[in-house]
Amino acid sequence: MPAITNIAELAVVPPGPIPGRQMGWLRVVPDAALLLADDKIAWFGPQAELDAPAGCEVIDAAGGCVVPGLIDCHTHAVYAGTREDEFVQRIEGASYVEIAEAGGGINASVQGVREASVEDLVDLALPRLRRMLEAGTTTAEIKSGYGLTVEDELKMLRAVKQLADRQPVELVGTYLAAHTIPPEYTWRANEYLDLILADEVFERIRSERLAEFCDVFCERSAFDVEQSRRVLETARGHGLLPRIHADQITQIGATRLAAEIGAVSADHLETTDEGGIEALKQAGTIGVLLPACSFFLSVEQAPARRLIEADLPVALATDLNPGSSMIESMQLVMSLACTQMRMTPAEALLAGTANAAAAINRHNRLGAIGAGMQADLLILDVPRFEQWAYHVGRNCVRTVIKAGRVVVERN
Ligand code: NIG
Ligand code: FE
Repeated sequence: MPAITNIAELAVVPPGPIPGRQMGWLRVVPDAALLLADDKIAWFGPQAELDAPAGCEVIDAAGGCVVPGLIDCHTHAVYAGTREDEFVQRIEGASYVEIAEAGGGINASVQGVREASVEDLVDLALPRLRRMLEAGTTTAEIKSGYGLTVEDELKMLRAVKQLADRQPVELVGTYLAAHTIPPEYTWRANEYLDLILADEVFERIRSERLAEFCDVFCERSAFDVEQSRRVLETARGHGLLPRIHADQITQIGATRLAAEIGAVSADHLETTDEGGIEALKQAGTIGVLLPACSFFLSVEQAPARRLIEADLPVALATDLNPGSSMIESMQLVMSLACTQMRMTPAEALLAGTANAAAAINRHNRLGAIGAGMQADLLILDVPRFEQWAYHVGRNCVRTVIKAGRVVVERN
C-alpha cells in the first residue's frame, strides 16, 4: 500500500461530467498525502492525518503538486507518414479546405496507412504514445479514419488494440471509417457508407472488441447531416456509442444532430452558434474543444467561454493527427486553452481530466481524485497547479502513476 507524501497541493478533481459553470471551482488540499491500495486511491487528505501502515512504500512528491492523469479524449494517433508540405502551404497562404480539395488533407494520409501493416502502425505509434505518457497522458482515445476501406479501417483498430497491450497508456478505440469520402467513391458517398456500415463489419468490430465509439466527420467537404445520422444510428444499433466531428469548418447542423441522437460528445465546435450550444445543452452532450488544432491551422478558436457560461460540460483534447494538429502534449493543450480561449487553469484541468473521462465514458473510474477511483496520478515539479498551464511548452510532469504503478520517473 504505497503512500505519496510531501504534496504541496493536491488538486481534488471531482468525477465528471462537471457542468461549465462549476468548472472554475476546484478544491485543493495543501500539504497533502495520498494512500493507494493496488490500482486505486484508498485515501487522501492533509499529510498530518496520514495513517500509513508500518513499512509502507513511500513516494516523495518533494513539494510538487498532484493532479489526476490527463485524458486525451480525441486523437488520430495511429497514422503513417507526415504532411509537412501542407504545413508549408498554409504558411504560404493556402487554407486547410483548399489543400484538401487539391488532393491533400485526410486523403493524403490514406495511402501510407493502406500500405502499412498492423505491425508498422504499431511501431510508428509506440514512440508517440511514450511521449504522450511522459507528458502526462495516461488514457487516450484513438480513431481509425485513414484506411477508408473496411479492411484498412479494421487494421487501424487492430493496431490500437495491440498498442493497448504493449504500453501503459490506456486506449479507447473509435471507428471513424466515415472520416472522408475516399477518392474511389467520389460522388458515391452513399455506396461507401453501404460498405462501412454493413452488419458484418460491426460483427467483426464486436467479436474482436475493436471499438467502443463511432465517429463521423459531419462537414460540407465530408458527410452531410443525413449521412452522418445514418452512420451514428447504424453504429449505435450495433452497440457503439456515437460522437461527432461537428462545426469545425462550416456549420451544417452537426451539433443539432449530435443533440438529436444523444451523442456522448460533439468535438471541435469552432463555428458553433447559440442554437448549437442550446441543442447540446438540452442533450447533455459534452463539448470537446481542440485548441491545438485551431492553433496549428491558425484559425479562430471555438467559443469556449460561451460554452462554459451556457453550463455545458467542456473537455479538452489534442486532436493529434499529421494534418491539422501535430501536437501530442495535453499540457500544451491546457496552456492553449488558457491563453487562446480564456479558460482558467482550473477549468482547463477539469476539462483534461474529469470531463475528458466523461467524453470516453470512463468517468466512474478515471479522471478524478477520490477514494475508489483508479490511481492514475501525476506528480508535477511545480507547487501550484496553476503554474502548470502557465509554464507554456515545458513538461512539468515529474512522475506518472498508472493504475497505482509508477510508469514514468523524470529527473
Ligand atoms: O479532427 N476534421 C477532421 N479530422 C481531423 C483532421 C485529419 C487530417 O487532416 O488528417 C481533425 O482535425
Ligand atoms: Fe479529429
